[in-house]
Amino acid sequence: MSTTYTVDSATSRATPTPKPMKRVTIPAIKARKREEGAEPLVMLTAYTVRTAQLLDPHCDILLVGDSLGQVIYGLPSTLPVSLDLMCAHGAAVSRGSYHAAVVVDMPFGSYEASPVQAFESAARIMAETGAAAVKLEGGEAMAETVRFLTERGIPVMGHVGLTPQAVNALGGYGARGRSDAEYDKIVGDAKAVAQAGAFAVVAEGVVETLADAIVKALDVPVIGIGASSHCDGQVLVTEDMLGLFERTPRFVKRYGDMAGMMTEAVEQYARDVRSREFPTEDQVYKPKS
Ligand code: KIV
Repeated sequence: MSTTYTVDSATSRATPTPKPMKRVTIPAIKARKREEGAEPLVMLTAYTVRTAQLLDPHCDILLVGDSLGQVIYGLPSTLPVSLDLMCAHGAAVSRGSYHAAVVVDMPFGSYEASPVQAFESAARIMAETGAAAVKLEGGEAMAETVRFLTERGIPVMGHVGLTPQAVNALGGYGARGRSDAEYDKIVGDAKAVAQAGAFAVVAEGVVETLADAIVKALDVPVIGIGASSHCDGQVLVTEDMLGLFERTPRFVKRYGDMAGMMTEAVEQYARDVRSREFPTEDQVYKPKS
């Protein structure tokens, strides 16, 4: 596994960011919570080098989410995603970024058994990808693990509320926190991981009042997805906000029509090939005269 993070422009079609920018650090992200009038943190998912290059200058954090299982590999959930996959995509995103802090998701089954198992998996992610931090799902039950990792030099981002790796236990992907018991449990989960040392916490798919309560309760940034505009930052799956899929979840705003753009371009290409309008003189090699 390569640990070189620069892009080799001789072998890659991608153009490296022209002016390497100073990398956002984990302490700087954590400190944003206390900064008077601080702008919300901007976080998007990235799985590939080219996407990372394009998003990097505009984002504070690039998340190599295990959502890549569904988005890139067509898996039915995030559960089958492996540590190998996360390491390969994490390294690609580090190679394509110069500015944003790169955070890599710990996949299902790589951390839940014990703090030691989590440390071994997280250490591999950090060593092989060059990421600044890992993210793991879970609340009180994961607090000891969060403490174990952070005390050993591995920054951890928490993830509470709708935790997709627990889809079978939760019974689906519906919003969380509609009952008093669930509301209180999720506030407790968020507090537990923050107190254990998480530098930031993702709150996913929770009712707005619950998200607001978590924002008030924590002294670290709360990054929302399907949460509230009062969160200290927002994250979306990039392909969702670019409009790559037909279905747009309620919490996503579509900022583009990538599916439409690709379909139109491919239709035109197919027409040109079939009518011999591609390639033209501009795209063929001539013998040296
Ligand atoms: O895997 C992922 O993309 C995520 C975000 C949706 C927060 O965890």
